[in-house]
Amino acid sequence: MMLFTFTASSDNGQASNGSSTNTTSQQNSSTEENNSSDVSDPVNSENSILNDLSDTATTNPDTENGSKILVAFFSRADENYGVGYIEKGNTHIIADMIADEVGADSFEIIRVTPYPEEYKACTDEAQQEKNANARPELTAAVENFSDYDTVFLGYPNWWGDMPMPVYTFLESYDFSGKTVIPFCTHAGSGLSGTVNTLKSKLNGATVLDGFAIAGTTAQNDQDKARTAVLEWLRKLDI
Ligand SMILES: Cc1cc2nc3c(=O)[nH]c(=O)nc-3n(C[C@H](O)[C@H](O)[C@H](O)COP(=O)(O)O)c2cc1C
Repeated sequence: MMLFTFTASSDNGQASNGSSTNTTSQQNSSTEENNSSDVSDPVNSENSILNDLSDTATTNPDTENGSKILVAFFSRADENYGVGYIEKGNTHIIADMIADEVGADSFEIIRVTPYPEEYKACTDEAQQEKNANARPELTAAVENFSDYDTVFLGYPNWWGDMPMPVYTFLESYDFSGKTVIPFCTHAGSGLSGTVNTLKSKLNGATVLDGFAIAGTTAQNDQDKARTAVLEWLRKLDI
């Protein structure tokens, strides 16, 4: 497994909680793992780095009465930083916790062409994609996106940014009037500048400050991860 050292910088999270109503007050909700800074390699090199669709939203059985909350996320399994080969991505694990807790529908953002299974190869491809400001094609779309008032948006920190498929997703819908609540998993960089990116990109939406947790915690210490997620959600007011 590759070794990287991450210095921390922070991008503390803030956001709001989830049941099924929507108000949007913000409260602090940072985690001790919201670190951001960069080193070498993909992970820490935020600064050195550069640089017919179908509806696949999964309806939460608890919300068949009409959930207005969507958890949309990008996540990658296979070989990943600090966790070896995994079957379920770190962000996916957190996304499921959120969806279960708030009774939301889920939608996985999937690139048509899978990323390499090997970590280093994936980081190289992702870097190229970021440098090209690519908008990779996705396998599916949310057909009833306008039905959702609140969108939890999850992603791993990739090169100090969101993976490019997330940009494809963001540019596929009208977010005006919606509340967007970012969350990410990472290997030391926290949310980096992604919340500000979302705020400037999603005109007309209310973007709350986000939640960040180490991918290794999400993968290997799920009790701790769930505790952090629940604590964060409690502070939200949606
Ligand atoms: C292509 C790529 C780039 C990454 N870049 C960073 C980074 O810049 N900063 C960081 O903290 N972690 C970085 N990581 C580590 C991931 O953010 C971390 O492993 C995350 O939990 C992966 O989530 P996932 O399993 O949901 O995809 C990177 C990982 C990959 C695969």
